[in-house]
Amino acid sequence: MSRFSWKGQWALVTGASSGIGQAMARELAAGGAKLVLTARRADRLQAFAAELSTEFSTEVEIFAADLEKPEAPAEILEFTNSKSINPALLVNNAGFGIFGEFREMDLARQLAMIQVNCSAVVAMTSLYLPAMIARGSGDVLIVASTASFQAVPYQTAYAATKAFDLIFAEGIAEEVKRFGVRVCALCPGQTKSEFHEIANEPIPKQMSVHTAREVARIGLDAMAAGKHHVICGVSNRLGMELQRLAPRRLVTAISERMFRPSGE
Ligand SMILES: NC(=O)c1ccc[n+]([C@@H]2O[C@H](COP(=O)([O-])OP(=O)(O)OC[C@H]3O[C@@H](n4cnc5c(N)ncnc54)[C@H](OP(=O)(O)O)[C@@H]3O)[C@@H](O)[C@H]2O)c1
Repeated sequence: MSRFSWKGQWALVTGASSGIGQAMARELAAGGAKLVLTARRADRLQAFAAELSTEFSTEVEIFAADLEKPEAPAEILEFTNSKSINPALLVNNAGFGIFGEFREMDLARQLAMIQVNCSAVVAMTSLYLPAMIARGSGDVLIVASTASFQAVPYQTAYAATKAFDLIFAEGIAEEVKRFGVRVCALCPGQTKSEFHEIANEPIPKQMSVHTAREVARIGLDAMAAGKHHVICGVSNRLGMELQRLAPRRLVTAISERMFRPSGE
């Protein structure tokens, strides 16, 4: 199974205090990987690290950091360097969304989202890539979304950050494959986690929902197989393929109907 691909090696997971990041960390620990977990909520990281190291007898380090702060990625690198940890796998998972009408959204919150979802992903990848290239091996998994493939009204800036993540991952993947480094974008559809509550976003009824564990497994399988991107679930894959045949504006209009806040 793919989760054993990093057995005995270090994996660094951002956004490991909840949802997909937590599920990813659990799968990796079950596969014998050693872990560095980061997120803002130190209490959660601490409890989760204790749980993982007891259950799977593996080493787990935690480092609390706020990726809204531009200096956070360098602080994470400084921490891993201070422990002589060279991650074989970097999972850029931390992220959040904002749901609602763009004209009513708080600008500072949107810019913070761009910082966490995009700038921090670029910074983390940029900081950990050189050691991977020097070693001639390393994996970077970037959590994008099915929102990466088209505009999504009422999550307009969020979808744009996820489009960035996908395009960034695919570009870097081609650039670094000749150095033995693999990069993969994981594109989940609706997934059970704290995401929707934080984004204040209702899940449209017609959408299928994955568990964080299913998504984590799909992502690690794809990473281990050297894919450049993976879309979670047959219906999401089919949906993404079919919509490529339709006019972009029509796809956006349908999406507007699906996501329009209720009562309007
Ligand atoms: N759930 C979905 O339907 C869905 C679908 C497609 C893609 N995704 C993507 O999946 C990724 C994980 O989301 P999730 O669904 O697992 O949501 P989640 O349960 O809310 O988890 C988000 C994680 O990101 C961390 N995070 C948020 N802001 C941060 C910050 N400023 N600094 C450091 N860490 C921060 C959170 O930790 P702290 O709060 O402790 O900092 C938490 O661990 C995101 O990139 C999201 O865009 C989710």
